Amino acid sequence: MATPQTRGNWSGRAGFILAAAGSAIGLGNIWRFPYSTAEGGGGLFVLIYVVFVLLIGLPVLLTELAVGRETGRNPVGAFKKLVPHSWWPAVGGLGVLTGFGILAFYSVIAGWTVGYLGMAVSGKLGAAVDGESSAAIFGSFVANPLWAIALSGLFLLLTVLVVRRGISGGIERLSMVLMPVLFFLLMALALRSVTLRGGLDGVAYLFTPDFSELSYRVIIGALGQALFSLSLGMGAMITYGSYMSKTENLWKAGGYVAMADTGIAILAGLIIFPALFFAQADVTAGPGLVFVVLPTIFNQMPLGLIVAISFFALLTIAALTSTVSLMEVCTAYFVDERGWPRKNATAVIGAGCFLLAVPSALAFGAVSGLSEGGWFTWDFLTLNNNIWGNYSLSIGAFLICVCAAWKWGVPRLLEALEGVAPRYPIPMRGVLTFMIKFICPLAVLLVLIFIVVTGEYF
Ligand code: PHE
Repeated sequence: MATPQTRGNWSGRAGFILAAAGSAIGLGNIWRFPYSTAEGGGGLFVLIYVVFVLLIGLPVLLTELAVGRETGRNPVGAFKKLVPHSWWPAVGGLGVLTGFGILAFYSVIAGWTVGYLGMAVSGKLGAAVDGESSAAIFGSFVANPLWAIALSGLFLLLTVLVVRRGISGGIERLSMVLMPVLFFLLMALALRSVTLRGGLDGVAYLFTPDFSELSYRVIIGALGQALFSLSLGMGAMITYGSYMSKTENLWKAGGYVAMADTGIAILAGLIIFPALFFAQADVTAGPGLVFVVLPTIFNQMPLGLIVAISFFALLTIAALTSTVSLMEVCTAYFVDERGWPRKNATAVIGAGCFLLAVPSALAFGAVSGLSEGGWFTWDFLTLNNNIWGNYSLSIGAFLICVCAAWKWGVPRLLEALEGVAPRYPIPMRGVLTFMIKFICPLAVLLVLIFIVVTGEYF
């Protein structure tokens, strides 16, 4: 079994915050948040989302970090330590499986971003002059099985190359370099977008809630997005917390991570919506928003080529710092519980994930007719997204709350949160206690019931 010395550690608070923010900030912020916002009617969705991040996301994030730091283990080992000789470690096991499952479809979409970066650089995206031509480019790109498989394989390989180098030498180093680049690119793009003609209408769309849009779907969608975006419910934050020193106060570290994740989602909105209003494009394009609508807008913009290249570079960076966290959850399990050398673990997980990614990569062949009537006439990518990204994350988040609040106990949770760092004011502890005991598990349970009963995705 790996000892604390051989498991690795973050070099300090900044390293942890950048890595955890890197995990949280990903396709969820830049690809999924904007289209969910559009589907949820704009400002109202954003408002509800921010409230959920504060009331539910942050308490669950703090709980996961505390569980990880206290036990110094991967999700399975963490629950073994929290509640020995019980079935609770199965919750950690579900988390490890979920990390693997999410990685297998996330790497496919991440592969598309690399492909789009390549197409932007080579000038191919220049042909996306209107909705129809752009949709055709997207359709033939994702339906090309060789590209889709090769690019997701490439992305998994990149992820393996980072994770095999360990915590401070691999994940932390990557985040220290890439997160500032990401932030700079986002700021520059948002500035470009907001100053476009009509750009301010996009800003207004993002920040003016229209309460007539209120529906249970908007509320549930916002909660699901908050969990996914903060990387909660599958032990990513337990694992990242486990490499944290006892001298850090997790209130602050967790607060920064939640703030960075939410701030970046809003910045992504400030890039996409002003651009959509500038081009008078359809804001409700769903998941195709980033890949289909944006290229046509880039082509109408001054400096469009640079903007397009920066945007897809940014998406690639954001995706990579998230895939490393997904792989780290599985790696930590094999290193801690099975005593595998880290390098072997990453190679096996990378290869296994690639096999599972292949059917997802081929899913869109069926859509465009390439493999019609063949093996992949159903959408494996969406299926995986639903099983792991929706159902499994909410089940995990619910059980983590219940275990930490009712089995392990809030007093121990609060103590673990503060470590040996100076104490914070009492009211915050009272709020967290109430949230984590009642509001968080109840809210997540409601989402779960909703998606099971209706079969809806977030
Ligand atoms: N939070 C990541 C994103 O927004 C996705 C993710 C989910 C990563 C769960 C790790 C664990 O893209």
